[in-house]
Amino acid sequence: MSRLPVTILHENEEWLAPLLDALTAADVPFRERFIADGSFDVLDAPQEGIYLNRMSASSHTRGHTASVDHTRQLLARLKRHGRRVVNGLDAFELEMSKVRQYQALEAAGLRVPPTTAVAGGPDALVEAARTVPTPFVTKHNRGGKGLGVQLFETHDAFEQHVRSDAFTPSPDHITLLQQYIPSSDQTITRCEFVGGRFVYAVRVDASDGFELCPAEACRTDASENGAAAAADGERCMVDDEDALFSLRTDVPEDLIARYVQFLAVERIDIAGIEFIEDDEGRRWTYDVNGTTNYNPDIEAAADRSAWSAVASYLQHEREALASVV
Ligand SMILES: Nc1ncnc2c1ncn2[C@@H]1O[C@H](COP(=O)(O)OP(=O)(O)O)[C@@H](O)[C@H]1O
Ligand SMILES: [Mg+2]
Repeated sequence: MSRLPVTILHENEEWLAPLLDALTAADVPFRERFIADGSFDVLDAPQEGIYLNRMSASSHTRGHTASVDHTRQLLARLKRHGRRVVNGLDAFELEMSKVRQYQALEAAGLRVPPTTAVAGGPDALVEAARTVPTPFVTKHNRGGKGLGVQLFETHDAFEQHVRSDAFTPSPDHITLLQQYIPSSDQTITRCEFVGGRFVYAVRVDASDGFELCPAEACRTDASENGAAAAADGERCMVDDEDALFSLRTDVPEDLIARYVQFLAVERIDIAGIEFIEDDEGRRWTYDVNGTTNYNPDIEAAADRSAWSAVASYLQHEREALASVV
């Protein structure tokens, strides 16, 4: 078994610590593989063992502009050689495209906000937006940590924005225009799944902005950007009524069951799935995060740790592989 480590493909050192702690605690051998600029032998067989793909859709914001395409090539090679990859190529293509996520969610019978995908720059965006009712939100097709998410009440405000320096294009040049879903209590819910199984759901206060990454490291980012008051440490306490993140125990079982089925069909092993509940109690699913992170306060408060669940799942996958080699 020791010759079958878990190789972690990743691009952000800051997100790694809690995962490595959980792997160490569970006695799972691992290797880190930082994916940015670099080279690989095209015809060489990849190393034995299992792989965990944690490449981030927002890697370009940390200067790693080659990471996503580099990962795509590596995952294709791993697939060709029959290596077991947790969140492999299929999951990765969904991770990199909300367009694909929405089509897959819809096919699984989930309610998705009406969305128009626009390829191109300001002219194409202004023209497409004329057909979209206000209010709407913009977002990057290749999103992550709220990139490009902004609310527009009028078409004029939108045009002014896309023709200004404030507009940032998605790295794949596809911008989404999506119906704004008002949440009755200004929260969203994120349901975490590991190995296709539900772990816990987290209610996130969205009243201060759209940058809602649960990772500890992102709380610091948010404060540096002056983005959300989200960085205010006190608001992260889970037993505080004003907590930014709090455990939610009343997510309906039929919704969880649909998510489980969606993940199985799309071959996604690990993900955090987000939905908004509107005034009429309808639940709109709008984001699937394969490279998910867990909030440390929630991890401490929940009766199950998601990071530990990831470690156990990887151990289980190693054992399954060891039994056939
Ligand atoms: N259609 C929508 N209506 C209202 N709020 C939204 C909508 N889509 C996204 N948001 C808000 O913006 C945040 C970020 O959007 P999301 O689609 O999750 O992008 P990312 O992949 O960057 O996290 C969400 O968590 C939510 O608070
Ligand atoms: Mg999100």
